Amino acid sequence: MTTDIKEIISKLETIKKNFDNELSQTSENNLSEKLKIKYLGRKGELSSFFALMGKVSAQERPKLGQELNKLKIYFQGQIDKFTDASESKPKRIDFFDTSLPGLPVKIGTKHPLYQVLDEIKDIFISFGFTIETGPELETDYYNFEALNIPKYHPSRDLQDTFYISDDLVMRTHTSPVQIRTMESMEPPIRMIAPGKCYRKDALDATHSPIFHQVEGLCVDVGVTFADLKGLIEAFAKRLFGEDVKIRFRPSFFPFTEPSAEYDFSCVKCGGKGCNICKGTGWLEISGAGMVDPAVFNYVGYDSSKYTGYAFGMGVERIAMLKYQIPDIRHFYENDIRFLTQF
Ligand code: DAH
Repeated sequence: MTTDIKEIISKLETIKKNFDNELSQTSENNLSEKLKIKYLGRKGELSSFFALMGKVSAQERPKLGQELNKLKIYFQGQIDKFTDASESKPKRIDFFDTSLPGLPVKIGTKHPLYQVLDEIKDIFISFGFTIETGPELETDYYNFEALNIPKYHPSRDLQDTFYISDDLVMRTHTSPVQIRTMESMEPPIRMIAPGKCYRKDALDATHSPIFHQVEGLCVDVGVTFADLKGLIEAFAKRLFGEDVKIRFRPSFFPFTEPSAEYDFSCVKCGGKGCNICKGTGWLEISGAGMVDPAVFNYVGYDSSKYTGYAFGMGVERIAMLKYQIPDIRHFYENDIRFLTQF
């Protein structure tokens, strides 16, 4: 390499021009880093000229030193300026692709129990029944007394009923809504009362301390047990199809006389016997009967003029049969894998 100072200086001028050129074409930050390496690095453009310092004459050495330092400071300054400017530049966020698909949103569905409840309500509404409601925190009078459930009756037991005070209970069934409805209107009455009920049952595959019932009541002149059977049969066919059969078995409830329990033929095997009906061909639904005249006395209806029938049904039980769900606990666990199947 030449040691002629003039030649050196003209080479340095060329390097400076090249540098300016390259910098003016640089648009990205990391390219300025490349320039830094190219011009200022250990093996960069200037380093070989610094090596010449020991080779030029003593008079020329300060001049070369000055030139080299000036250039070094200039390169460093230009690169810093460029980097600062590009870092404070706003990032390129002005482009937004509106054609990209959005993030999927999980939409909830109606709970299977309430889907079944809706279906039950629709069927009874189509039969001309109204929907009535009552409180879940109920008085002893409506939950027991006025339903002709005497003081010593086992369903009043502390083991079965959530007592809030001596006089207040969490209703153990929807039957108290019968009393409230009859108190508030005169016959003819055709109503159902859907809602939550509470009993001190341990949670297992078929029991839950909170569950749902639908109560039914019809009161008019000349209502008979045959009307009750006809209604239950029509309801069963609407819910489970034309092939379903019903049967009534004698039973006892304090608020109906005569009383019965009613069953549907098994929705899975059609009556042949399977695991769902435990080989019997029948599925127990709930109780029903003709309203006991003692109940009419409590609400001030003339029992020599009016007759009526009443029935209950368990919503969980019906939903379990309809969808063949083997365990009641699925309804309350809110596992999305279960709920999205309905
Ligand atoms: N309340 C009864 C229960 O929870 C079910 C019931 C039976 C309701 C007979 C009725 C009826 O209306 O007539 O077990």
